[in-house]
Amino acid sequence: MSLLLTGGMGYIGSHTVVELLQLNQEVVIFDNLANASEAVLARIEKITGQQPKFFKGDICNREDLEQVFTEYDIDAVIHFAGLKAVGESTQIPLSYYHNNVTGSVNLFDVMAKHNCKRLVFSSSATVYGEHNQSPLIETMPTSATNPYGQTKLMIELILKDLAKSDPEWSIVNLRYFNPIGAHKSGLIGENPKGIPNNLLPYVAQVAVGHLGQLSVFGDDYDTPDGTGVRDYIHVVDLAQGHVKALNKLSELSGCHAINLGTGNGTSVLEIVETFKAISGKDIPYQIVPRRAGDIATVFADATKAQELLGWQTQLNLNAMITDTWRWQSNNPNGYE
Ligand code: NAD
Ligand code: UD1
Repeated sequence: MSLLLTGGMGYIGSHTVVELLQLNQEVVIFDNLANASEAVLARIEKITGQQPKFFKGDICNREDLEQVFTEYDIDAVIHFAGLKAVGESTQIPLSYYHNNVTGSVNLFDVMAKHNCKRLVFSSSATVYGEHNQSPLIETMPTSATNPYGQTKLMIELILKDLAKSDPEWSIVNLRYFNPIGAHKSGLIGENPKGIPNNLLPYVAQVAVGHLGQLSVFGDDYDTPDGTGVRDYIHVVDLAQGHVKALNKLSELSGCHAINLGTGNGTSVLEIVETFKAISGKDIPYQIVPRRAGDIATVFADATKAQELLGWQTQLNLNAMITDTWRWQSNNPNGYE
């Protein structure tokens, strides 16, 4: 029996592949390389001593999905594949709805046809919208403020209906907070195309000299130092959360949303100061107006993951930033 990881060549997927291979699980990666490099495979092999199986395919193409489910005996799926840039999703919303929503419906349909009804889905804390007060808890109302967030919300709703229609489905929607960091080997990490949108890859590229200075989006929020507060989580902790969720699928029926966060908030300036201290590099920054759509404070209530999955984070902010810096300084041009 194999596990299928759609989007398994990407940032979070590749770290999850490593955790699963180290537990001797059979893994098949399904990815169209829209936002990934094939070089990831050799890096995974270097870390684990095992070459994961890779199927180049697109979730929007049913034939690709049919082929992979026919070729392998798939027991469960972790569904990472998707487009994830918030700004871009407002420019080309139809591409986001097509890729993320239509692609997911295709996947669930082919899974059902092959009687594979165990699924872990990559959702996001973005589904809590802008009106809930942190700590964010799974029972709070959901909403979205941009097309990317809408796709995550729609897929969660589709999965809820699917589980209601057929009790054989066992589904966990993992709502990630802000994944950062990299594998401690320094061999795999986040590799954004072009200028990064997210804070940590941006800071890392300033530290390595690719970008001149960081723009801090607002210092007038109602937070201790006025800058935005987020719940940063080490990508290896996040990957281990997927392993725990997979293990739980055989006991669960229905559709369950679970936060993966630390429960702690860190401000933009705290990130900058910690990065400076760990890297020994200067991180010049200027304060600029708030970014549209941002809110002051976002952090998780991580109780459900602990109670239901027996999972909690192990790696602190120093480890997250040490590992981000090792990855960035060893690979200043990513996988190129
Ligand atoms: P990523 O872009 O590194 O990985 C996504 C992978 O999916 C890429 O390898 C890409 O090539 C692949 N892909 C995209 N469209 C595809 C398609 N149609 N068919 C097959 N493969 C396709 O992103 P990531 O950071 O690893 O995120 C993984 C998942 O987690 C995404 O669904 C993302 O929305 C979600 N998520 C990410 C974050 C984050 O901050 N990184 C936060 C919350 C949720
Ligand atoms: C963003 C997305 C969110 C997505 C998440 C994870 C938006 C509005 N939200 O969240 O949907 O799920 O990424 O990938 O894009 N910051 C700066 N300067 C920068 C970049 C960021 O000051 O150059 C600040 C932001 O204002 C925020 C914090 O750093 O306070 C974190 O930003 P970011 O990494 O983009 O994550 P989120 O805004 O939490």
